[in-house]
Amino acid sequence: MEIIRSVESLNTYFKENKKTVGFVPTMGSIHDGHLSLVDLAKKRFDLTCVSIFVNPTQFGPNEDFANYPRSENEDLRFLGDANVDIVYLPQELDVYPYGTQHKTEISLEHLSKFLCGKSRPLHFEGVLGVVLRLINQVRPNGIFLGKKDYQQCKLLEFMIKDLQIPTAVYFGEIVRDSNGLAISSRNKYLDQRELVVASQLFKSLSEIKEFFIGTACYDEKELINFLSEQYKKIESKGFKVEYLEIRDSLSLDSCNSLKSNQEYILLVAAKLNNVRLIDNIEFTL
Ligand code: PAF
Repeated sequence: MEIIRSVESLNTYFKENKKTVGFVPTMGSIHDGHLSLVDLAKKRFDLTCVSIFVNPTQFGPNEDFANYPRSENEDLRFLGDANVDIVYLPQELDVYPYGTQHKTEISLEHLSKFLCGKSRPLHFEGVLGVVLRLINQVRPNGIFLGKKDYQQCKLLEFMIKDLQIPTAVYFGEIVRDSNGLAISSRNKYLDQRELVVASQLFKSLSEIKEFFIGTACYDEKELINFLSEQYKKIESKGFKVEYLEIRDSLSLDSCNSLKSNQEYILLVAAKLNNVRLIDNIEFTL
C-alpha cells in the first residue's frame, strides 16, 4: 500500500501508474462503512485510492473539528488489510494552497439549505469544495460515497454532473451494526448504553416505513400530523430531534403528500446527549 502525504508525491505516483482509479474520500476513523465502499471500488477499478483529510471548512465554529476522532495508525492497518492501493493524507496547504480563508467557494443553494444544511449553514459548501479539490488531485474514474450521508451524496452527484467532471459516481448502501445503528465515525462518542439507545433511531425509521407501505396514500394534513407524532415518539426515546422529513429520493424535493409508485426517502437527524446522529431509509409506495 502506497502512503502518500503530499500533492506532489500524488502527481508523481499517477505519472508512473496509468491505471483506472476508484476513489473513496474520507475523514479517517475508518469503519466498515468506508471498507464497504473500498470493496465496491476494488470491483470496478484497477486501483483504489482512499483519502484521509479532516476537512476544517465543513465544520461550524461550535462543532467537533478539534475533537473529531483521528486514528491514523489504526486507519492505515484497516486499509492495508482491505488491500487498498493508495492512501492519500494531504496536508491542509495541499488542499487549500491559499489557506482556508482565501478559497474558491462552491455552493449549491437549492440542495444545501434544508435538512442538515439548516443547522449546519456552511457545511455543504465545505464538503463540495474539498471533494472538488480532492477529485482534481486524484483524478479518479469513479468516486464512491456512502448513502448514510444521503444529502451529501446528492449534492456531490449534482456538482460532478453539473461541472461535467469525468468521474462516475457510485453510492454505497448504509452499513449497520447488529442492532441496526448506521455505522459512523461519530459513534465513537457513544458509550455502550448510548449505542443501544442510538439504535432505536433506525427502529423508528423502519416502523414508519412499514406504516407508509401499508397505507395507499397520504394527504398533506395526514402526513404532517403523522410525522409530528413520530417526531414526539422519537424524542420520548431520549433524542432531541432536529428533523424528520420525507422527500423525493431522486430530487430531494419535499413532499406534501405521498402517492403510489413513487420513490421516497425518510431522513432523520437527532442528538443523543449532544452526539449528532443522522440516518435514512428509502422506500417506494
Ligand atoms: O463524508 C465524509 O467523510 C466527508 O464529508 C467527505 C466526503 C470525506 C468530505 O470531507
